[in-house]
Amino acid sequence: MAKQKQVIAHRGASSYLPEHTLEAYALAYGQGADMIEPDLVLTRDGIPICLHDLWLETTTDVAQKFPGRARSDGHFYAIDFSLEEIKRLRAWGRAKPEQQASIPPCEVPTLEEMIRLIQHLNRQLNRSVGIVPEMKAPSFHRRAGKPMEEPILKVLDEAGYRGREAMALVQCFEEDALARLRALGCDLPLVFLSANPLTPSDLDRIAKTANGVGSNRRLIEDDTGRAVNNASLVRECHRRGLAVYPWTFKAEEAVMHRFFHRYGVDGLFTDNPDLGVRARNRRR
Ligand code: G3P
Ligand code: CA
Repeated sequence: MAKQKQVIAHRGASSYLPEHTLEAYALAYGQGADMIEPDLVLTRDGIPICLHDLWLETTTDVAQKFPGRARSDGHFYAIDFSLEEIKRLRAWGRAKPEQQASIPPCEVPTLEEMIRLIQHLNRQLNRSVGIVPEMKAPSFHRRAGKPMEEPILKVLDEAGYRGREAMALVQCFEEDALARLRALGCDLPLVFLSANPLTPSDLDRIAKTANGVGSNRRLIEDDTGRAVNNASLVRECHRRGLAVYPWTFKAEEAVMHRFFHRYGVDGLFTDNPDLGVRARNRRR
């Protein structure tokens, strides 16, 4: 992995364009992000698509296009739809209903399409922007009879992402899913995500499988701008060779500057990659 601190575009440049669309990823690329994050779920036909939620209605017009396809809990699960059906949807991110008409037409991309975009831009612009795919709820997919580790690894492998130096970090909130990736032979850098405090023994265990921790930013600094335990999470991770990637930052350049230059994080997830790049590059 490159040693420069990483600005990771969270769901693309998602403050500006609908999250998890090729448009939002391309803008993040243009704004100078070092890495771009697709969250991943599977379709009914087992294809990894870029989507944050397990269901489609929060970010697309699935309820209008496919009325009657919700489960009894009211959700339109992506895993109940084929890719061909999902491609008929309009993706508008989290825009309020009154804003949706003004959103340009965007679709839900597959992981393969996202990678094709990033690799094309890398060739055109002689850059090496990376990807940070997140497996969303592997245990849900496993219970549904569609384990997601292998299909995601296959797409990454076929796209040439292999080895510790690859510009791809795979992240997940489920530790056992990261262990399954290792058991499948995955040698990419892995990031364990946590919203909860991590003890020294948690970190000892995580360091056996993962190469980094993606922590809720509030495990490092609270909402009043005060460092939590002197930002000891960063030191404890670094002591074990784990990189630290907190999430999620919006239009908060000064806060991101603190995380990069006071707390010494290795990268961070932001909806505003343009501001993240400025914060990272400004030394004082
Ligand atoms: O993956 C880091 C961060 O994105 C985790 O939160 O819910 O936005 O995927 P979420
Ligand atoms: Ca994520």
